[in-house]
Amino acid sequence: MARLVLRGFDIRKGHLDSAAQQQVVVALRPILKAAPLFNPSTASGRKMSVRMTSAGGLGWVSDTAGYRYQETHPKGVPWPDIPNDVLKIWRELTGLERDPDCCLINYYGEGARMGLHQDKDEADFSWPVLSVSLGDDALFRIGNTSRGGKTESIWLNSGDVVIMGGPARLAYHGIDRIRFGSSRLLPKGGRVNLTLRVAT
Ligand code: SIN
Ligand code: MN
Repeated sequence: MARLVLRGFDIRKGHLDSAAQQQVVVALRPILKAAPLFNPSTASGRKMSVRMTSAGGLGWVSDTAGYRYQETHPKGVPWPDIPNDVLKIWRELTGLERDPDCCLINYYGEGARMGLHQDKDEADFSWPVLSVSLGDDALFRIGNTSRGGKTESIWLNSGDVVIMGGPARLAYHGIDRIRFGSSRLLPKGGRVNLTLRVAT
């Protein structure tokens, strides 16, 4: 359970052991059933390669109307609750009294990636964003708080947790690629990334 800090990103390698990872995957199953993954598009109308859904009072959506948090899944139903096993990770690592109100669930299938971006649709950037990696390895790239400049990359493995807080809260970051099939945690392969945020 090594801890390393890269450009202010607090990376907890292997924070979840395989039993804990399994437990989270089991807890996600009913959520994915009630609030199925969808294929968001960017504001410019391009389909993203990552599929998404959310749990919590608010979920993040993106379509041609732009990026935003909203109280319902695109199919009109409220988002399911954030599972306790997931809240536990937030409470343990942030030590905050306040729970997150959004757990964004990203699914990376073969070939999926996420371009460099900032997380800046939240109301208050003093809250950290916590990210949990499950399944296939992913090459995570970290840039600067403004576009451009040098970047650094690190492989995230299943069970790793990254805390983006403080000055790193608004750093650009993205996923260049995954190593499809590198983990057997998810029956169909691929990678799930959970990001926990206080959105309001
Ligand atoms: C994100 O920045 O929204 C996702 C990061 C990741 O998949 O690890
Ligand atoms: Mn992000």
